Amino acid sequence: MAGPLTGKHIVLGVTGSIACYKALDLASKMVQAGAWVDTIMSYGATQFVTPLAFRSITHRAVVTDTFDADSEYSVEHVALAQQADVIIVAPATVHCIAKMALGLADDPLTTTLVAAKCPLVIAPAMDGNMYDHPATQANLATLRDRGVVIAGPGTGRLASGLMGVGRLLETPELLGYISYAMGKDGDLAGRTVVVSAGGTAEPIDPVRVITNHSSGKMGYALAEAARDRGANVVLVAAPTNLADPVLMKVVHVRTAKQMGEAVKEYVKTADALVMAAAVADYRPLEEAGQKIKKDDDELNIALAKTDDILKSAQGNFVRVGFAAESQNLVENAKAKVSGKNLDLIAANDITAEGSGFGSDTNKVTLIGRDLAVEELPLLTKYEVSNRIWDRVAGLFRD
Ligand code: CTP
Repeated sequence: MAGPLTGKHIVLGVTGSIACYKALDLASKMVQAGAWVDTIMSYGATQFVTPLAFRSITHRAVVTDTFDADSEYSVEHVALAQQADVIIVAPATVHCIAKMALGLADDPLTTTLVAAKCPLVIAPAMDGNMYDHPATQANLATLRDRGVVIAGPGTGRLASGLMGVGRLLETPELLGYISYAMGKDGDLAGRTVVVSAGGTAEPIDPVRVITNHSSGKMGYALAEAARDRGANVVLVAAPTNLADPVLMKVVHVRTAKQMGEAVKEYVKTADALVMAAAVADYRPLEEAGQKIKKDDDELNIALAKTDDILKSAQGNFVRVGFAAESQNLVENAKAKVSGKNLDLIAANDITAEGSGFGSDTNKVTLIGRDLAVEELPLLTKYEVSNRIWDRVAGLFRD
């Protein structure tokens, strides 16, 4: 199951904050995502969590001492720095951030950071007053200017019991920052893309809606994959159970009409539109003001056709549609390419194994404006997304 971290060498730097325990979860999720994770702990971090805990999760040696003669790395800081695809320091304490800003190298982690040339993410975690301190803010600004990706901190309950800014971001958010950092200078850098996702919900009355089985996973994967190649992403999302991805603009909508308005607004400055959303073709003609009572044996709801968002969104941008079909896949999808004036369509047979609603994989057939057919194998939705962006990258108008 290939994703953005598959096969990557990641150095996880852990410094002394109570949020260290969350770094174990991060390590675990990175390993599950197929990454090689080497942990370097500051002395302070070892007071909160043992090196053994990280070693047990990553199945790799944990570096804690610059002068450890038994290490499998000959000169650790240089060896780890050289092989890393990305380094994340999580949690990053105020002291570690200050050392990084100064370029100090007095322990294995800071030495590795000074020796590294790969992308760097730091996830601050500290008390709110320490975060607000002018020195901390100045140090973070220095690091940001140097190209370091600063992930958070978040706002919420702090270890002190107070509410405020200073929380370590949650693992899924940190994973988003890591894959963004690795790809931010990619082939979509400088491009703006609009992606729609999820299934619209059309109200019948204050309680009920007409919707569909779309999970939103394909659209969210497309948005994340574009972000991870450097694009500015606007994700227009109909209701899903998915958390907002980091480092993009997420516009939440419910109905086809709201989605149409949002898409129309954001494509004005976009280089591409990818409509992965399952948009309702019909909506109740009128929404009942009060809950409909079950007085009658039969209930007929008059439906009105919705506007076709993709068809009406015309302009100087690359236009990609999806075709969810249960029969005559290629034939129906080809008709949509010309009917909606598309540059590309991703057709998927919703009855095929591994391609159903809610699945993490998809088997799609890509059809271009010339109607040439490219059948892709069963891939993760993230991989399918990258195949679509590969095609879009060759279709930009300027
Ligand atoms: N689409 C849209 N606006 C709509 C309906 C669909 O923008 N009101 C977009 C979808 O997001 C998708 C493409 O059009 O990218 C094809 O959607 P699909 O549901 O497969 O086809 P329809 O055009 O709705 O035709 P049909 O339901 O008859 O197959």
